[in-house]
Amino acid sequence: MNAFTLTDLNFRWPRQLTPCLIIPSFIVAAGERVFLHGPSGSGKSTLLALLGGIAQPQTGKVEVLGQDLNDLSGHSRDRFRADHIGFIFQQFNLLPWLSALDNVLLPCVFSMRRKRYIGNAHKEATRLLAHLDLTADLWRKPAAELSVGQQQRVAAARALMGKPEIIIADEPTSALDAKRQQIFIDLLLTESAAVGATLLFVSHDERLAAHFDRRIALDEINQVSSECNE
Ligand SMILES: Nc1ncnc2c1ncn2[C@@H]1O[C@H](COP(=O)(O)OP(=O)(O)O)[C@@H](O)[C@H]1O
Ligand SMILES: [Mg+2]
Repeated sequence: MNAFTLTDLNFRWPRQLTPCLIIPSFIVAAGERVFLHGPSGSGKSTLLALLGGIAQPQTGKVEVLGQDLNDLSGHSRDRFRADHIGFIFQQFNLLPWLSALDNVLLPCVFSMRRKRYIGNAHKEATRLLAHLDLTADLWRKPAAELSVGQQQRVAAARALMGKPEIIIADEPTSALDAKRQQIFIDLLLTESAAVGATLLFVSHDERLAAHFDRRIALDEINQVSSECNE
């Protein structure tokens, strides 16, 4: 089974005259670790939003783990994402008033499936946080009071909770120093390998590509050249 099968996709943001993405075909096999790169503004985050069912294409088909997202209602798409995809958003999307720990526990609130995969959710959350070098004194702090680099690691721990089959990471190391970047990538690769998860990793730092099975530039698959136009 494929993790992602994208067919004849055409996507345009509202109030833009030209499409952002025209992608005839893009396939990621289950268990593959893919490094996706491209210049800023080229549509990488937009593609991830489509693959995660956060945005819907005007035409074309997005299948995730064999499920055609067009066949799901908005609510079912959200549930599907919560069950199967750990998403590290470029802007993290942490709930600012919740503690770091409670943010990491969120997938267990939204997904019974992911909760089932974890024996002791609290233990798993603190294991991931500690592994990402977030010390215990930070676990109870509201996310809003953490540094950007700390928030990024909380977002990463949250994505890994409950061992989702797919991990989507949008520039997940942009706010980390070299040492923490390495720790983070090692954890991501180990955790995904342990359960055969598919990893789609976006970055403009091409030095990181060496860690992955396959490396693609967005413009190899997208027929809209350069930037999405206004
Ligand atoms: N929420 C949005 N609403 C309207 N346009 C958007 C939105 N998000 C992104 N875009 C447009 O899509 C283009 C691609 O953005 P994005 O996918 O964030 O690129 P990248 O992640 O490669 O930097 C941007 O130029 C922007 O104009
Ligand atoms: Mg982006």
